[in-house]
Amino acid sequence: MKTQTTSLEFSHFPVMLSEVIHICSPKKGGLFVDCTFGGGNYSNAILEFPKTKVIAIDRDKAVISIAKNLQKKFKNRFQFHQSKFSQIDTILNSEVDAIIFDLGLSSIQLRDLKRGFSFKSRDKLDMRMGLTELSALEVINNVNEKKLKLILKILGDEKEASKIAKNIVKARQEKKITKVDELVEIIEKSKKKNYSSKINPSTKTFQALRIFVNKEITELMEGITKATQLLKPGGRIIIVSFHSIEDKIVKFFFSNFSQNKSKPSRYLPEEINNNSFLFENYNKKAIKPSINEINKNNPSRSAKLRFATRSKNKFVYPANLFSKFNKYIDIEAHNA
Ligand SMILES: C[S@@+](CC[C@H](N)C(=O)[O-])C[C@H]1O[C@@H](n2cnc3c(N)ncnc32)[C@H](O)[C@@H]1O
Repeated sequence: MKTQTTSLEFSHFPVMLSEVIHICSPKKGGLFVDCTFGGGNYSNAILEFPKTKVIAIDRDKAVISIAKNLQKKFKNRFQFHQSKFSQIDTILNSEVDAIIFDLGLSSIQLRDLKRGFSFKSRDKLDMRMGLTELSALEVINNVNEKKLKLILKILGDEKEASKIAKNIVKARQEKKITKVDELVEIIEKSKKKNYSSKINPSTKTFQALRIFVNKEITELMEGITKATQLLKPGGRIIIVSFHSIEDKIVKFFFSNFSQNKSKPSRYLPEEINNNSFLFENYNKKAIKPSINEINKNNPSRSAKLRFATRSKNKFVYPANLFSKFNKYIDIEAHNA
């Protein structure tokens, strides 16, 4: 890994790279989609297999220069689109062998303090990954207290959401909150002084704001649904996630729409329509990084990899997925 490179290329340490490549099995060639291009590590590793083609997507224009380097190296075997993966259906129209999602932020984004993702920043509150409506600055200064509290509680699991939201509103009535360190100060003052947790007091608030600003849960649900529709029978959807909301959604989707879906009760009859499952038998156990990988790249410790194999059945819209996790979509909809 190059830690601080002058060029951005590959300056993100890839998580579970060999596991992802093994699941894609690119040896015999095929068409692969990297929905979260970032530092380009997965795309590059797949393209090293001669008969492959990769279509890469990322919402962040900061990675275009990395994509251009891959373009030079692999010519017409590689294509990049600056887009949100929820728009994947507007980019692709052919069937695909594997689609990969490596969710969340790249270290390229986190390290760039001007983007305001890190609570170590002294710059403007921003947190936009790209192609985003609102910045964190607009959210913090305009969203009403009730909604702010919900964002922090539901998207960040922040126990002291109420107090933090109240103090944000109080502070902004005196002066607009513009910088990351101003927000950090408000959070630290709001939290009980004896917080014993090992995590930074701002972690959960920052996670919640980032998810809200980028509508990450809505993106995930739309992205994985559309990706499933584009997979060949036998094609694989691979998702690396980093927090519990994402993992809960992915696990539900793969288990409830797979051939080995468990019955809600053993007293109920077998489902009559057995031709509607989207995925073959699904192994519910998530794959986690090895100790060796965690020692080399500590942020990988919270990663979980899940994958499912597309069945031969016709695609049916997974309405249950959207009804079950509707509360996240509702919160992410902006209605200050
Ligand atoms: C964890 S990084 C991916 C790193 C990459 N796998 C690698 O090893 O170099 C996640 C990337 O996904 C992008 N991203 C996140 N959500 C997205 C979305 N909804 N649509 C498109 N790109 C997204 C981010 O901008 C970021 O560059």
